[in-house]
Amino acid sequence: MKTQDANFSSRPLLPLSNIVFYGCTDLFFSDGVYWRQLRRICNTDLLCKKRVNSFAPIRQDEILSTLREFYRDSLDRRPVNFCVKVAKLVNNILSRSAFKERCKNQERLFEIIKQISQVGSGFGLSDPFPSLSWMDVKRRRKLETIHREVDMIMDEEVNEHRKMPKEQKMRDDEMGYLLDALMEAKERGDLDIPLTLDNIKAVMLDVFFAGSDTSSATLELCKDTCELLGYTIPSGTYAIINYWALARDPQYWTDAEEFKPERFEHGSVDFRGNNFEFLPFGAGRRMCPGILLGMATIEEALAYLLLHFDWRLPDEIGEKGLDMTEGFGAISARKEPLHLIPTLRVPLPSF
Ligand code: HEM
Repeated sequence: MKTQDANFSSRPLLPLSNIVFYGCTDLFFSDGVYWRQLRRICNTDLLCKKRVNSFAPIRQDEILSTLREFYRDSLDRRPVNFCVKVAKLVNNILSRSAFKERCKNQERLFEIIKQISQVGSGFGLSDPFPSLSWMDVKRRRKLETIHREVDMIMDEEVNEHRKMPKEQKMRDDEMGYLLDALMEAKERGDLDIPLTLDNIKAVMLDVFFAGSDTSSATLELCKDTCELLGYTIPSGTYAIINYWALARDPQYWTDAEEFKPERFEHGSVDFRGNNFEFLPFGAGRRMCPGILLGMATIEEALAYLLLHFDWRLPDEIGEKGLDMTEGFGAISARKEPLHLIPTLRVPLPSF
């Protein structure tokens, strides 16, 4: 990754990226000058520290509402589906950071993001052999249906937000929401490649897709033929960088398969793309631009959830041990959702 980053920094053109992500005009799947321009907007404005910090009240509000839900559940002493609740929390935080309000079609968007992950993962015949695209008709139709629905949801949110008076979109610190940042970039008129409304919807879709879950592998394209570990990799080859495997390589990790969070205690392994054995956010040019927003959400939510509740596994699972099988999808989420029984430990804050 250190020496071949530039060569492997394009994404392959897939039916998923072309059909669902507005002809690859989002940040994840785009390339070249257009991608560099979006990346600059993300780093300096859209996902910068100041804007991420400005969403702190949204995060607090949503975290508190989730804590209250867990509190109500704790009164029954019955297991709750922890995965679903936390995924909704993240989605609500993203929606309100993006559009000010939770999406009107929040549940549906949530479902569609899951579908994109499922339909988009794995290879269709036409991915490596575009000339065989006629054999992949069913999958393409499914992707087209997904796109139409995503577009309707994005359209509605974007139009609603655009109609909102400016004063309502500004908060005390004068920072707008994610959509405002993109609209401002569009209207400033100093971009090499002007942004269209579809481009903005594509980036907003990235926010929900890339921000809603974590990835453990990433797909890149070899631009120029090169030599890797003695193999010749022809240009145009798809490369899958398996971050999951790197993080379990016994060459770099003691007790590689053991869950030992204390191994990170003294901060010896960096997670910001400098230590290749641990790349939750990737590394190099294509590294995740949402790292600040992602970390703020995870750190704050986890701290409150652990402070206020004790978490216990249901007895029957405690005996068998946790099922860590991975589900099918672009994101290696667990196959069986995690059920836990919360018990209040510290009274909830009122903020
Ligand atoms: C804990 C949360 C997150 C994790 C673990 C994560 C992880 C990743 C990973 C592994 C990649 C691929 C890097 C590569 O190809 O080398 C990526 C890319 C990306 N992430 Fe994240 N991400 C998170 C949160 C977010 C959030 C909150 C956003 C946006 C609001 C976001 C937006 C993106 C985008 C747009 C890309 C593509 C960047 C490009 O290709 O230039 N991510 N992320």
